[in-house]
Amino acid sequence: MVVSGKGGTGKTMITANLGAVFAEKGKKVLLIDLDMGMRNLDLALGMESRVIYDILDILSGTCKVKQGILRDRYIGNLYMMPASQHPEMEKLTEESLRQLCERVCSKFDVVLLDCPAGMGAVVEMAAAVADQALVVTTPEYAALRDADSLDRMLARLGVSDRKCLINRIDPRLMKKGLIPSLEQIGQLLRTPIAGTVLLDDAIYIGTNNGRLVSVEKGTYIHRNFNKIADRILPADNQPYSNE
Ligand SMILES: Nc1ncnc2c1ncn2[C@@H]1O[C@H](COP(=O)(O)OP(=O)(O)OP(=O)(O)O)[C@@H](O)[C@H]1O
Ligand SMILES: [Mg+2]
Repeated sequence: MVVSGKGGTGKTMITANLGAVFAEKGKKVLLIDLDMGMRNLDLALGMESRVIYDILDILSGTCKVKQGILRDRYIGNLYMMPASQHPEMEKLTEESLRQLCERVCSKFDVVLLDCPAGMGAVVEMAAAVADQALVVTTPEYAALRDADSLDRMLARLGVSDRKCLINRIDPRLMKKGLIPSLEQIGQLLRTPIAGTVLLDDAIYIGTNNGRLVSVEKGTYIHRNFNKIADRILPADNQPYSNE
């Protein structure tokens, strides 16, 4: 599950770009948008014009699971299940999400759940089915405090494998000491840091144009996302070194 306390920290951007990198590494990847009513993942993947069915259509039996999953046109191993824009939330329950995840987990190597911000019911449902949580935060005290509160909630809900990712770092401000340093962030958060992502126009433009910048070879973003992916996949779990 990809989560954050504060909204807008970059969960959807990270879900799309990390998913693309896992797929590029040969994993069969499904990205599920759980942000009901605020669907964005289709836009980040450039799939918005192809969406017909969504997760609630699958859960209500309006369509088959296969019909509600879109395949990326360029990255063959990458698939996405859209959230519903017209949420009839009673169809999404812990049990229905669990059954759906059990079904898709037998067909995919990696399933990423792009969650809504905060600590609401959908996040609790996702916590009940997820093996791992990636808490996305920005280097601001408000976002860090909210990330820590969410992390404590996830711990109470039994998600023992938790990592955080610091997104939208402006190195200029960090160097000047105007935003918390990685050392300070490490002290504020209890979970290991899976990686850092810089504030970058290429990421902003990519997300807003449905382009996955993490798979553009020869760029530092490609190398960085590959390192993050290696730290997150259980087989390649490596401690974060502050390079
Ligand atoms: N590292 C980055 N550099 C530049 N822009 C970024 C970066 N990360 C995210 N953004 C931009 O920030 C905005 C919010 O990102 P995103 O939608 O992924 O956040 P979110 O956590 O999913 O938001 P929400 O809580 O609303 O679901 C987007 O316009 C995205 O392009
Ligand atoms: Mg989002």
